[in-house]
Amino acid sequence: MNVSSQEEFNNMIKGVLISEDEIRAEIAKAGKLIDSFYDGSPVLLVSVLKGAFVFLADLVRAVSVPCEVDFMEAKSYFDATQSSGSVAVTRDLRQNITGRDVVIVEDIIDTGRTLSEIVKLLRARSPRSLRIVTLLDKPSRRVTELNADYSLFTIPDKFVIGYGLDYGELFRNLPYIGEFNEDFCK
Ligand code: IMP
Ligand code: MG
Repeated sequence: MNVSSQEEFNNMIKGVLISEDEIRAEIAKAGKLIDSFYDGSPVLLVSVLKGAFVFLADLVRAVSVPCEVDFMEAKSYFDATQSSGSVAVTRDLRQNITGRDVVIVEDIIDTGRTLSEIVKLLRARSPRSLRIVTLLDKPSRRVTELNADYSLFTIPDKFVIGYGLDYGELFRNLPYIGEFNEDFCK
């Protein structure tokens, strides 16, 4: 997306929905929960690019159990009229997850379509366990059965940006979760 000035960029942000302090506090809790759950066993944190990279970076430093990180990237082909679609994996994990404890670290679960396809794919590889942690959950938009095992914030049906989440590839650098000013929607 083209933005011609800092002023225009700033005007596209309607306001702060979740502050840096609120995010930090919830991540500390999530880290402790992961520690108590895996109790010293190694885990693999799998993040779905690009949106979850900031969340993963903070979450991994709130976790004390031995952990590795890996990344997947997927492109979704869904439209409003489809009840199911397909997900093409454009970057797969670099390792075998058979027998491992895996945690998917996601930025937001909206309809749930992308993640439910990724879950299917990873389950087929027989990990020892597979759990989902999501920073944000928009349950009102869900069209699949998929739910996170742990969600840090439940949000209303608003388009959000910042802290890794984008609109037209911009706004990932905001340190908070903001609301996108939909007057700027194309
Ligand atoms: P799904 O509808 O659950 O498959 O969502 C797929 C992807 O859409 C998410 O992983 C996000 O990358 C993106 N997405 C959904 N809602 C928002 C939002 O409010 N802001 C930014 N990205 C979003
Ligand atoms: Mg995502």
